Amino acid sequence: MSNKTIYLNDYRAPAYWIERTDLYVDLRDGQTKVSSRLSMHVNPDADRDERQQLQLHGRELALESVELDGQPLNEDDYELDDEYLTLPVGRLLGDLENDELCFDLTIVTLIEPEKNTSLEGLYRSSGMYCTQCEAEGFRKITYYLDRPDVMSEFFTSIEADADRYPVMLSNGNKIEDKQLDNGRRLVRWHDPFKKPAYLFALVAGDLECVEDRFLTMSGREILLQIFVEAKDLDKCQHAMDSLKHSMRWDEEVYGREYDLDIFMIVAVDDFNMGAMENKGLNIFNTSCVLAKAETTTDAGFQRVEGVVAHEYFHNWSGNRVTCRDWFQLSLKEGFTVFRDAQFSSDMGSETVKRVEDVSLLRSAQFVEDGGPLAHAVRPDSFIEISNFYTLTIYEKGAEIVRMLHTLLGADTFRKGSDLYFDRHDGQAVTVEDFVAAMADASGRDFTQFMNWYRQAGTPELTLSEEYDDQAREYHVTIEQYCRPTSESDEKAPYHIPLNVCLWGEAGALAIRLKDQAPDVETADNTQAIIELREQRTELCFVDVPERPVLSFLRGFSAPVKVHFERDNDQLLRLVRSESDGFARWDACQQLLLNAIAALETVAANETEEQAQICEPIAEAFVELLQDETADPAMIALMLTLPSLTYLIELRDNVDLDKLDRAREILRIAIANRCFSTLWRLYQSYDHGVAYQPEAEQIAMRSLKNTALAYLMLAVDQGDEQENRTLILDACEAQYRYANNMTDQLAALQALLNADCAAERANMALGAFYEQWQSETLVMNLWLQVQAVRRSGNALAHVRDLKNHPAYDNNNPNKIRSLIGAFCGQNLMAFHASNSQGEASSEAYEFLAGEVLSLDRRNPQIAARLLVPLTRWHKFNGERQALMKSALQSIANRKELSKDVRELVEKSL
Ligand code: TRP
Ligand code: ZN
Repeated sequence: MSNKTIYLNDYRAPAYWIERTDLYVDLRDGQTKVSSRLSMHVNPDADRDERQQLQLHGRELALESVELDGQPLNEDDYELDDEYLTLPVGRLLGDLENDELCFDLTIVTLIEPEKNTSLEGLYRSSGMYCTQCEAEGFRKITYYLDRPDVMSEFFTSIEADADRYPVMLSNGNKIEDKQLDNGRRLVRWHDPFKKPAYLFALVAGDLECVEDRFLTMSGREILLQIFVEAKDLDKCQHAMDSLKHSMRWDEEVYGREYDLDIFMIVAVDDFNMGAMENKGLNIFNTSCVLAKAETTTDAGFQRVEGVVAHEYFHNWSGNRVTCRDWFQLSLKEGFTVFRDAQFSSDMGSETVKRVEDVSLLRSAQFVEDGGPLAHAVRPDSFIEISNFYTLTIYEKGAEIVRMLHTLLGADTFRKGSDLYFDRHDGQAVTVEDFVAAMADASGRDFTQFMNWYRQAGTPELTLSEEYDDQAREYHVTIEQYCRPTSESDEKAPYHIPLNVCLWGEAGALAIRLKDQAPDVETADNTQAIIELREQRTELCFVDVPERPVLSFLRGFSAPVKVHFERDNDQLLRLVRSESDGFARWDACQQLLLNAIAALETVAANETEEQAQICEPIAEAFVELLQDETADPAMIALMLTLPSLTYLIELRDNVDLDKLDRAREILRIAIANRCFSTLWRLYQSYDHGVAYQPEAEQIAMRSLKNTALAYLMLAVDQGDEQENRTLILDACEAQYRYANNMTDQLAALQALLNADCAAERANMALGAFYEQWQSETLVMNLWLQVQAVRRSGNALAHVRDLKNHPAYDNNNPNKIRSLIGAFCGQNLMAFHASNSQGEASSEAYEFLAGEVLSLDRRNPQIAARLLVPLTRWHKFNGERQALMKSALQSIANRKELSKDVRELVEKSL
């Protein structure tokens, strides 16, 4: 397998198109036969040279036969290697000058889905056959032009044993269904919409289905079906509701209607990612479609809603208008993530959704952007495209679309999206096409804006301010900077929208800018979108009656890092009075960050000084907890300290033990100070309320369980140890009598995190296993809470769990829940120090071993798993060396997948 780098600049349209694709998939134990007939014609734009050869992609296929226009070819008529079937069209057909040149190719291949552990192409998952073709899996099914700009009309015949596979599905509409001899059955599907091969799907299995209908805005009735194993039929309602909400929402907000008469979802246990938007036949990881109060947490319910919406929205942003090449991946993913975020925001709480998204961006995407795997949202080269399904492509890509939305406003943005869909329906296009539609619909110039797509790295803004009370002027200087990354040392300045407000003692102040120098669009006169374009911008606000507190990244209007020194009083004013929920939360985060940074510099025995740092914050939290007008979900988010991951992101040369200690000191101080308020609050909840996965209830549970965690901390590590039994009993009661998984799991985690509850925690873990061992998704949670447990020797425990019957080392969900969670989330254990305080390499070596063994079975998951090791640049020299040597031990193996090879080499 070649580790060749592919460049965007080398893009050429193909020399041949595939007008129509006829597949016949004959599913038989141990050997599946795939016959394909491709109706090809020459691309009139291709030159003679390009027309000479037709190179079809193919991997791990056994070629049985090739026919050209019905004539069998023999082995010296074509070339075969482990990546391509190459046909010398010039030699076989001549006639290359003819722009009308067309021919039929009939290709028969044999494959073994039973042995396919990579979960791309055709494979088996708990007794059924299913496919995953994005990005380049179709070439593991048959020889093909497996690239997204080749769009074809598909006819798919599936033949299989009628009894064992009563359900046989593919894209589009079913056009034939007949019984054959020998107990076999044939089902035929036709998809009238031309599509690239990555959107192809096929499923055969013994599945049950939940059905519903949807009436589109033009009055067409759509059949909706969700296929699952019989045992999961009671877990489909939420996905079905989410689907109907998504369909309605896309009509209302984007004017987009569903196009086929049937929309199907299939749930499979073994799946590399969350879900896949195959035309008319979405395939989902069970974890992203099944949900039921008793077995699924609130976060799980929200994930189902978000992923169902995401895949559904792809029908327009991805399928009807698709990507020209894989460098354009964010064209569909960034846009679709933006769309699903808008949807979730409309379905629940706008502020909560925004805070969650920004937290993810900061704690994970910024880390990616700051490390050796940094890449542009539209990269210009890659080795293995599977490695580019990243936070940068998805989340930063969505932020870029969101900035366009901020710059244009909702109505003009909608004009732009209408233009984009109308102009490019049925085409495979580029990021430029998308931005051009936005520019054309608005008359704006986005030339500089394209830097967001071109340049890797997170821009950093440094602000300084000065208030002149004589002139009543408020001056702000903003400098932007972006660190060098591998694609370019010099970064051109970005076009950055800043959503700005000035806060005075009594409320927002009117905004007037001297000269209106940077473009200002003042929505009302207390709020402005200021557009930065220069490396340095000086703003002069005039008629400012008092020294204001500047709020300048409201709603997180751009994915940037900010350096702006502000004291507690300024931040507290924002915490108390900002009307933008995100900005309020962000000010609160900044307070917490400042406190943690201050605590890091204080010696362990200086308890007086520590108290002084923590007190104003704890005090503000008592006030916040008593604010009855505040959204409980927002209070919970504000009470939650920045994660260790994010704290590491903000630092270089991290001393993790010291950092964690500082964070814990603050947490304990808050727990102590808020104890009685939290306990009163906790007791005020009705724990027996019938579960609904709705924003209001989710908010209550979130605050209740945040309270529980603090209460447990206060009795475990804090000043409230005489109340220990009281709180432990309450926690255990919640664990036992909870009527939903959110509460049950929160109580279990609270027990696991308290040293003083070790015995109760272990009992609860055992009981949880007994209760839920037959629910594989619940077992994922069980593995995960143990993998992230703070106390005890988590690594040893993870090693033991690998041999537990609840674990399965071929199932991506299990791997993510145990190994992924341990290495990615249990930072204190992953980066453990030994008793002498020296860095230990044990967990790094463990991970390297896991990656190497998994790489032979599932390269995509192996590559994702190793990512925590690529964060070495954040740590001190000793740790860096150990992490790199673990990476090196992976690199030393000769036979590595492209996936793992690319990531290891780029990060060393
Ligand atoms: N397009 C899918 C999405 O909705 C991503 C995806 C699903 C995928 N399965 C995959 C990507 C397997 C690569 C490999 O985001
Ligand atoms: Zn997607």
